[in-house]
Amino acid sequence: MLCGPCGWFGPAAGLAAREHRGENDYQCEQKRMAQPGTMPNRMASLNQHLICANAITGSSTMGNGRLIRSMAAVSQLLKTRAFAPLLVILVLMTSVGAVLAAGAVWSRPDESTHPALTLPPLKQVQATGQIKEFELDVGRTGWELAPGKTVDAYAYNGQVPGPELRVTEGDTVRVTVKNALQEPTTVHWHGVEVPVGMDGVLGLSQAPIQPGDTFTYEFVAIPAGTRWYHAHANELAQQGGGLVGALIIEPRDPQPQSARPDREFTLVSGEWVTSSTTAPTGPMLMPTPGSAGGMDSMMGQGAGPMAQGVGRLNYDTFTLNGKTYSAAPPLMVRQGERVRLRLINANATDTQIFALPGHRLSVTHTDGNVLQQPVQVEAVPLGVGERADVEFVADNPGRWQLEAFMPALSSQGEVVPLSDIVYEGHEADAAQDFAPDAQVRIASYANFGGPPHPDPPDRVYELTLSGGVMMGMGSPTNWTINGKNYPNTDPLEVHLGQRVRLKLLNMSMEDHPMHLHGHTFQVVAANGRAIDGPLKDTLTVRHMEQYEIEFVADNPGDWLFHCHNLVHMGGGLMTEIHYR
Ligand code: C2O
Ligand code: CU
Repeated sequence: MLCGPCGWFGPAAGLAAREHRGENDYQCEQKRMAQPGTMPNRMASLNQHLICANAITGSSTMGNGRLIRSMAAVSQLLKTRAFAPLLVILVLMTSVGAVLAAGAVWSRPDESTHPALTLPPLKQVQATGQIKEFELDVGRTGWELAPGKTVDAYAYNGQVPGPELRVTEGDTVRVTVKNALQEPTTVHWHGVEVPVGMDGVLGLSQAPIQPGDTFTYEFVAIPAGTRWYHAHANELAQQGGGLVGALIIEPRDPQPQSARPDREFTLVSGEWVTSSTTAPTGPMLMPTPGSAGGMDSMMGQGAGPMAQGVGRLNYDTFTLNGKTYSAAPPLMVRQGERVRLRLINANATDTQIFALPGHRLSVTHTDGNVLQQPVQVEAVPLGVGERADVEFVADNPGRWQLEAFMPALSSQGEVVPLSDIVYEGHEADAAQDFAPDAQVRIASYANFGGPPHPDPPDRVYELTLSGGVMMGMGSPTNWTINGKNYPNTDPLEVHLGQRVRLKLLNMSMEDHPMHLHGHTFQVVAANGRAIDGPLKDTLTVRHMEQYEIEFVADNPGDWLFHCHNLVHMGGGLMTEIHYR
């Protein structure tokens, strides 16, 4: 079987599609990555490959393989554009079929056939009694992304991103938030298993912190790892406008000296609209009321940011720790050091594939949670809200350009430089990029291993993510789970102690970085193949991908599960999980 777009073919032509997708997926990527070409071409091929792998993958564990196959085939054919008018009709018919099939196959109540006879122990919160206190003043500030390029940002303590909060696992964290904005705000502790009253979801778990008011958050810092915090009110404007920061929870058991890196950097990405003159190429997408200053930024002239017909504004300026490439101070290292980067995608909408030329990156943690084995790559994709800890050995002296490939920036994607890694003594060197023949391996979830997970789940939900401008239909502001917009999505009613499995399928054209509040989940299947996958709190489901994730309902309350693309979130791609 030949994989048309990527040219990969299996050792046996009759290889089942699922095996191709499962076992050989990585090889397929490897082959593509090994092909010479420019950096954008090579990295854009990831997109291409995922689509092509999906087209081949007909079978599905989700009971609707035929549907998936036909939709994928349609999207493949649409790429040729030759049959577009005919296909619109076909798509319409297929969509009707989709709704019917979804109803028939997926509406079965999935109440447990394996009731939890004994409840697993509730989360053991081991508070050490150590109290760490912080203050966050929430306000507006003119933030200089680069000399001469200032945006009207939202800021914690006057800075973008907000201060890095660093605590030790088990510490009691007490954060006093003072709201100096003209609008309500709240703070969410992303990836931290807080009690629900501290989760900061305006209107669900917390009353708004009104202008002039103060609220003190208090929670025990678990689990250890790279976490972050951000506003959870008027998200596109506030979170997208600068209300983000890193929260690092160090493991309480001191790591052996040998396991500790010599140096580490926390790197928080961001994206900004600085030009209001870009011609609209799609429907206009207005930020929610009250957000004008945040995204519309700078000069206040022109018509404001426009959507490109996809779920993003016209972000044109990309930052690391609040500064553009030209303005970011280089990351200084010494030869021989082991260096850790804590990468946090705090963008408003865009997936980034972080890459470092000249070095091998060892991925050690996903969303702050340690992997069973580090995975060696040159590039790591992160959807909005995701984090990765990567390490490299500084064994290639010079100045190297840390960069991000951004698939959504154009049809082929673009490489955006973020910062330079500079070896001491090489300050004057020119920044180096990947060699033309460099092999760029891109990490994928299927390569990451977590602990073995018990089977089976007590409760299963199947969630189809869709919406947007899907092949010419729909609206860029309409995003759905099982065909419904929040707040009309069906909440997931689970019970304390249950192991809950969510089967996710992305039928739309854009990435959905799905975030579960208050819990860590495990990826247990990727595109139809069962895996003991990584522990995460945010999982990016790309076009036509399927994942199954599981979490234990051990932190009672009303929680959100939503897409972290702030445009999709605002457009309704969100649901609630309830239990007492
Ligand atoms: Cu990081 Cu509901 O968010
Ligand atoms: Cu989304």
